Amino acid sequence: MNTRLESSSAIPLAVEYFRAGELVAFPTETVYGLGADARRDAAVRKIYDAKDRPLTNPTIVHAANTKMAQRCVETFPHLAEKLAERFWPGPLTLVLPRAQAISPAVSAGRSTIAIRVPRHPVALELLAAFDGPIAAPSANRSGFVSPTTAAHVLAELDGRVGLILDGGACDIGVESTVLDLTRQPPLILRPGGITAEMLRPVIGDVELFTGTVKQGESAPSPGLLDRHYAPQTRALRFTPGEWPKMQAMAQTLGPVALISHDAAIHLPAPHTTILLSRDESAYARSLYSALRAADAAQAKLILVLAPPASTGLWAAIADRLHRATVSS
Ligand code: TXA
Ligand code: MG
Repeated sequence: MNTRLESSSAIPLAVEYFRAGELVAFPTETVYGLGADARRDAAVRKIYDAKDRPLTNPTIVHAANTKMAQRCVETFPHLAEKLAERFWPGPLTLVLPRAQAISPAVSAGRSTIAIRVPRHPVALELLAAFDGPIAAPSANRSGFVSPTTAAHVLAELDGRVGLILDGGACDIGVESTVLDLTRQPPLILRPGGITAEMLRPVIGDVELFTGTVKQGESAPSPGLLDRHYAPQTRALRFTPGEWPKMQAMAQTLGPVALISHDAAIHLPAPHTTILLSRDESAYARSLYSALRAADAAQAKLILVLAPPASTGLWAAIADRLHRATVSS
């Protein structure tokens, strides 16, 4: 398949692709998504093929607005109304019972779907022009790092998707928060752009799923696999206290790619140091690019300095790093 990379002015062409049951990759404020008409089984199944995604991992559905989201689910409880009013459009995904109109393929055998209204202008314009729900997991090969630029998508899916809409670099850089509203109190299945601290004042008690699951185990949310969001090179995370040990290891091992957010923790050539910000938003925005750059550095090993906090957006960052790396 020939992959076309177009600017966001190609939205009418993207709509034609969706109407023909084909895939389009498009930008959202979190990461790029690989989209298909969420009402058509055959179209949704193409997403799984293109990503080599296990059929057990359900995908997120995107809606143009709350009204469209409501038509995709069986019930839209009061709590969902409150959340939609406060956080949509935005990086909050709600798990709710699936409506008949939506292809069961998005649910991967479950009775629920995960749905959100994204806030990226290109995503919103695309959804409005298509006038229907779009199923879209992150536009990467299953298990690997999510794309935050159109170039990342091309590197992952060249020849596997018909059209990529280029909307620039994603603003948030880590995936949306997935919140299960089918249980009380609601459970954060995946931390993301909308943090527990932001949710509590709106909905009160909320729990955070902290476990990981192994390949093949049944999971409350299959994206919680213990290895996910991972670069190809072996990646190790370490705490500041372990830095001397890491330096010694780098000396014997050969070229290492280090991702740090502390200027005092760096390695000289022939090693590569990628210095990220200490600001959580800036760190999140560049995390996946940094993992890709580290992967491309031809290093024997990637070292990642553990995040300095576990609250706010750092919770989402720590979660992704936990799955992308092993501890030292
Ligand atoms: O920010 C995002 O959410 C991006 C952009 C493209 O919107 N999408 C994304 O999709 O990250 P994906 O497929 O890579 O992650 C979807 C997550 C997975 O953890 C999956 O297990 C969970 O949502 N999920 C989807 N449907 C679910 C359901 N019915 N019940 C529980 N978890 C579900
Ligand atoms: Mg993903």
